[in-house]
Amino acid sequence: MPLAALALLVFRSESSRTALVAQESRTQSALPETAFGSTVTEHNAQNGNGYVGREVCRECHVENYELHGMHGHAHTFAMASEEKIASKFAGREYEYGEPYGRYEYFRDEDGLAVRIPGEVEEAFPLQYALGSGHNAITLLSLAKDSEKGTVAYEHRGTWFRDRDRLGPTPGQPLVVPETELERFGMKHVDNVMQKCIYCHTTTGTVIDQEIVGLTANVNCEKCHGPGAEHVRQARAMKEPPPFSVGSKKWDSESEIQLCGDCHRLPEAITLKELREYPDKLARFQPVGLLRSQCFIESEGALRCTTCHNPHKTIGAVSESEHVANCIQCHQVETDSHRSCPVSPSDGCIKCHMPKYDFESLGTGFHDHWIRVHPED
Ligand code: HEC
Ligand code: HEC
Ligand code: HEC
Ligand code: HEC
Ligand code: HEC
Ligand code: HEC
Ligand code: HEC
Repeated sequence: MPLAALALLVFRSESSRTALVAQESRTQSALPETAFGSTVTEHNAQNGNGYVGREVCRECHVENYELHGMHGHAHTFAMASEEKIASKFAGREYEYGEPYGRYEYFRDEDGLAVRIPGEVEEAFPLQYALGSGHNAITLLSLAKDSEKGTVAYEHRGTWFRDRDRLGPTPGQPLVVPETELERFGMKHVDNVMQKCIYCHTTTGTVIDQEIVGLTANVNCEKCHGPGAEHVRQARAMKEPPPFSVGSKKWDSESEIQLCGDCHRLPEAITLKELREYPDKLARFQPVGLLRSQCFIESEGALRCTTCHNPHKTIGAVSESEHVANCIQCHQVETDSHRSCPVSPSDGCIKCHMPKYDFESLGTGFHDHWIRVHPED
């Protein structure tokens, strides 16, 4: 099918344009980073599914609201047309080479688009942006497919914060494109497409080339659940009953389930990988932590939030705070905890949780299988 026909069919649907325009105009209001999320959540609350949006939480939880605003969670999904995204691509070129070609990015009346000059002149519209830009931003567009219904194209060019450059999108095998559209992006269908949106947003389901009920980013209510009833009670009485939102059941295991839903649990990897534990598993912190003696022998006392305030970005946590987390268990030699014979009061992370660089992702990850490494 010619590209033009597909592109027209898919991307310029009047209803989705209207929705996007509504969101964009909100984006220019007082709260640029989050306002388009709240437009959608107000709509959701009216629909009775109980989501109120993070702006409402601010009223009573200012500190967590402000911390969360600086976390990658609060910025991991945006419209590609937003200035903070479009400005990283528009006016630039990226030479992928064979078999895809040279991408030229530009703004058009609908936002951001890309073409392959001289080869595929038809512009390919770029719709959504995943990743906060703390490390990288990858673009995603929904399209109609004759066999699969709605599909998502993950664009082949990614922006990397490291040296402010464009490069190949990680995790895409170099295959000969079967259609014009596949020259622009790798096609995802069904669950892979839905899960991609699921992990980067609070609510939203892909239906007919649109994300219905979209609240962008990993916001308060993604972890704590819909807040309408909690807010109603908090406004009606001085002290709302505890756990009218969130979970009182969060113990170390259910909390690892919460974070691992996106940061990956062992079920997300192959048995072979699990057995061999290659360096690349450092990317999946829950998988590592579950193997660590710190976790196994603590009998439930160690969880992700022992070391991470879930609202605070990792960039705002100092090395000495991390060391203090280790020392709360390891400073004094007891029956249940040993202290370090090599360095009892500093430098723990570089020896016992070394960082592996994933150059293709433009970032690195710390091995959460806390242990004495062979090279130590
Ligand atoms: C709904 C999916 C989801 C859940 C649940 C989730 N995360 Fe994340 N997390 C992400 C995504 C997506 C990113 C990448 C953010 C970006 O684009 O920079 C991320 C990034 C992070 C980062 C690094 C970025 C930063 O600014 O510090 C930390 C640390 C983190 N998550 C910790 C946690 C912890 C701890 C939990 C559980 C309490 C958790 N996450 C639950 C999806 C999730
Ligand atoms: C199972 C949940 C999950 C799925 C599915 C998922 N992501 Fe992510 N994504 C994460 C988490 C967690 C991070 C944080 C860092 C990491 O683990 O790479 C992240 C980070 C990113 C980043 C920022 C890079 C970085 O390391 O900060 C980009 C870009 C991204 N994802 C794009 C995508 C795209 C595009 C898709 C779908 C094709 C997708 N993700 C599917 C959970 C997910
Ligand atoms: C990535 C998941 C995640 C997100 C996003 C998140 N929280 Fe939390 N929050 C948690 C977890 C887990 C705990 C329990 C932490 C603990 O037990 O130490 C918690 C605890 C809390 C608490 C009680 C303890 C405290 O810190 O005062 C409040 C209030 C709270 N969150 C509000 C918010 C608000 C408001 C937002 C959005 C601005 C938000 N949370 C976003 C995971 C999250
Ligand atoms: C009108 C005030 C108000 C609003 C709005 C509000 N909260 Fe609360 N919240 C409270 C009070 C009061 C408490 C109990 C005391 C405390 O822990 O701060 C509380 C407690 C919590 C807790 C701790 C668990 C518990 O129930 O004891 C979480 C988590 C939480 N709120 C999340 C949220 C989230 C998420 C939002 C937004 C959807 C929100 N709150 C909006 C007033 C409010
Ligand atoms: C909640 C308590 C707790 C925290 C926090 C904690 N650990 Fe542990 N850790 C343990 C327990 C329990 C063991 C098993 C008994 C022992 O060796 O002390 C252990 C074992 C270890 C071991 C030996 C592992 C092995 O396989 O022999 C190392 C190394 C270690 N911890 C380092 C650290 C570092 C580094 C940190 C901080 C990043 C940390 N721990 C945080 C409880 C904890
Ligand atoms: C320079 C690297 C280095 C640093 C820094 C370091 N360690 Fe170690 N640690 C080691 C080595 C090597 C061993 C194994 C020693 C042995 O078996 O004789 C070890 C052993 C341990 C053990 C197991 C003790 C035992 O009796 O087997 C624990 C627990 C531990 N370290 C915790 C920590 C903590 C907590 C910190 C930070 C306060 C830390 N380490 C800093 C290298 C380091
Ligand atoms: C014993 C302490 C400890 C525990 C428990 C822990 N972390 Fe970490 N985590 C760290 C340290 C230290 C870093 C590196 C901080 C830095 O960048 O300097 C880190 C970094 C991260 C990052 C940023 C990417 C990376 O790997 O460098 C993510 C995401 C993360 N942790 C998620 C989790 C999740 C999810 C859990 C629960 C399964 C968890 N962590 C449990 C100590 C811990």
